[in-house]
Amino acid sequence: MTTPLLLAQNLVKTYTVQRDWRSSLHFNAVDDVSLSLERRETLAIVGESGCGKSTVGSMLLQLQRPDKGRILIDGEDTMSLDREGLRRFRRRVQVVFQDPYGSLDPRERVRDVLIRPMLLHKICTKEQAFARASSLMESVGLSAAQLNLFPHQFSGGQRQRIAIARALCLEPDVIVCDEPVSALDVSVQAQVVNLLQDLQRTVGVALVFISHDLAVVKHLAKNVAVMYSGRIVEQAPTSTLFDHPSHPYTRALLAAAPSVGAQKKKQLLLSDDAPDPTARSAGCKFAGRCSYVVDQCHREAPPLATVGKDHLSACFLAKSLPSTKSDRESVVETPALRRLAAFRRARDNQPLNAEYEK
Ligand SMILES: Nc1ncnc2c1ncn2[C@@H]1O[C@H](COP(=O)(O)OP(=O)(O)OP(=O)(O)O)[C@@H](O)[C@H]1O
Ligand code: SF4
Ligand SMILES: [Mg+2]
Repeated sequence: MTTPLLLAQNLVKTYTVQRDWRSSLHFNAVDDVSLSLERRETLAIVGESGCGKSTVGSMLLQLQRPDKGRILIDGEDTMSLDREGLRRFRRRVQVVFQDPYGSLDPRERVRDVLIRPMLLHKICTKEQAFARASSLMESVGLSAAQLNLFPHQFSGGQRQRIAIARALCLEPDVIVCDEPVSALDVSVQAQVVNLLQDLQRTVGVALVFISHDLAVVKHLAKNVAVMYSGRIVEQAPTSTLFDHPSHPYTRALLAAAPSVGAQKKKQLLLSDDAPDPTARSAGCKFAGRCSYVVDQCHREAPPLATVGKDHLSACFLAKSLPSTKSDRESVVETPALRRLAAFRRARDNQPLNAEYEK
């Protein structure tokens, strides 16, 4: 077995929130998360807002340290890196954030955005730097003539291309992309996703792709980890996860996604109330929203266990869930969902059951 490029083992990140003026609460924003990334592959991390995706991403980037667990690059433990080791790690693992406005310094010309890190990390000489910056601009679909412009002189999609060029300028092994297209116009999203895919093929960089968008994930990723309330609840190769989802939460996410191809019509299986990450429970964290729940789910937390080749699920019933076709019956009626259905009914003047029909 080859050593993974990037390996995260049992990561835990605990935050403290103030409950009132005299008490605070500790909660695990990330709880026992393990991930493995091979060279040149894309690993997607998906899940609702607040489930801990960015916290995992920032630990993989060494922007914050895990409270427990460790991260290895090419088998080397990053927890004990000295200053120089950390500098080398940062060169190898780059980031593209969601907000192309916030991630670029408005006072810096694009030329400097690209050249400064190259010189700092001694990627090339001063004389070579401009030519390298020009070729990077072309590789992300921009032109060398635009190197003298400031970030505000570009569109949102173009700014995200600059952020990708900046990530690439240090010739990284991994880019952590945290919702890289969700702030962009729908028409531009596909262009940026295709660019990432092309670059992966040509440059050979591995991607950790954090996203809400399952259609994009299906298109781009080799493996997917589904997070719920700080934990990974399902992990599998992309085709396995989309064809044979083995956790009720994954099924609900897939059923709610309009364009992943598995469903004919948008269905809502989840309320729009995301879970409270500070809530404590001995059992499965999804129990309150799961229509397959049994007594055991309230008493014990299901372990992330193997259910097939390279396929893990944290559900007691993973191997006995009914076929995905019958998920239509598993709609959890919540007040928020009822309100939404009533609004749509009024808008479309359709009978109640039509909302969930395929
Ligand atoms: N610095 C912090 N201090 C306290 N709580 C935090 C901090 N950063 C994140 N959290 C909390 O940790 C949880 C996970 O946050 P995180 O940003 O990782 O979620 P996410 O999955 O990336 O969400 P989104 O999809 O909205 O970006 C959330 O409940 C968030 O409020
Ligand atoms: S363990 Fe129980 S509550 Fe949790 S997802 Fe499975 S069936 Fe639902
Ligand atoms: Mg996030």
